[in-house]
Amino acid sequence: MYKIFIRPLLFLFDPEAVHYFSFSVIKYLSKLGFGSITRRIYTLEDPALEREVFGLKFKNPVGLAAGFDKNALLYNELSDFGFGFIEIGTLTPKPQDGNPKKRLFRLKQDGAIINRMGFNNKGIQAAIEKLKQNKQVLIGGNIGKNKLTPNEKAVDDYIICFETLYDYVDYFAVNVSSPNTPNLRELQEKEPLTKLLQTLQDLNLSRPKQKPILLKIAPDLSNEQLLDIIDIVNTTKISGVIATNTTISREGLQSENKLETGGLSGKPLTERATEVIRFLSEKSNKSFPIIGVGGIHSAQDAIEKLDAGASLIQLYTGFIYEGPALVKAINKKILESLPR
Ligand code: FNR
Repeated sequence: MYKIFIRPLLFLFDPEAVHYFSFSVIKYLSKLGFGSITRRIYTLEDPALEREVFGLKFKNPVGLAAGFDKNALLYNELSDFGFGFIEIGTLTPKPQDGNPKKRLFRLKQDGAIINRMGFNNKGIQAAIEKLKQNKQVLIGGNIGKNKLTPNEKAVDDYIICFETLYDYVDYFAVNVSSPNTPNLRELQEKEPLTKLLQTLQDLNLSRPKQKPILLKIAPDLSNEQLLDIIDIVNTTKISGVIATNTTISREGLQSENKLETGGLSGKPLTERATEVIRFLSEKSNKSFPIIGVGGIHSAQDAIEKLDAGASLIQLYTGFIYEGPALVKAINKKILESLPR
């Protein structure tokens, strides 16, 4: 239904306009009471799907990746599509517009998207107002820095986000891996990254109850850098890693939009993201959990991420190309693949 009727229609229009239009439609239908029907169609509930990871209980291991619901506007409604958790953000302390439009491109022949949104978001305070309406959805808070904040002061932005969001999210994703904020990815280097994560972890430990902190990394890191990441996770004792964000690679693309600047997501990322997950899992001796993300367009793709060492998975581009039925299909396949 989605791929035959809805997607061809949506793909006729500008991707960013379609994104906001879809939000309005989902919100409206939900207000009319369609939420329970959506849930009945798309949600699969089974105790065998439940997971306990970094101290949190997930109804199932399939989450919505960051960037889709940046401002926490739709997470309640999106959870009706069967997700076990939703990651909001990336949020920055102050609101910012992001890069000039046009900044979101479909690469149809490649099953991919290039985006250079640039952390467009309404800021942390606006998100909190929305998060007060949470109806028991497990929420990850993905945090970043404002574009105008220099890297030397980046830690301050992350601290503001961490402290302000603390009571409203279940875990934190520290995003230093977006290619669309100038120089952000330099924060993935060993010294600044250790300082950033240690500062957040110290704040976390000073609280009566800790929240899991995860680091979201780029797929473009070398093996040497990935070994550094393992070291940093183990020394700072943060809870885990989200692998991966979008890539700056353009290998093997066919579509006319392939030369657009930005981060590439979707099918061309599938293998590299899985490789990063496998490397981290093996070289760390599974010493921390990994959320696997990048190019999951089928139930089989999801199983491969889990087999490579991911405890949970997330999707974004696959949700756009394959439609909401993908979440249930993945959960069904996970159930089928469990040993009896
Ligand atoms: C993203 N992604 C992203 N990630 C992040 O940490 N913060 C963000 O704000 C965004 N924004 C964003 C916008 C758009 C339009 C896309 C397509 C992606 C990255 C996303 O969460 C995910 O890591 C990658 O897209 C890889 O997964 P998929 O899309 O291949 O399933």
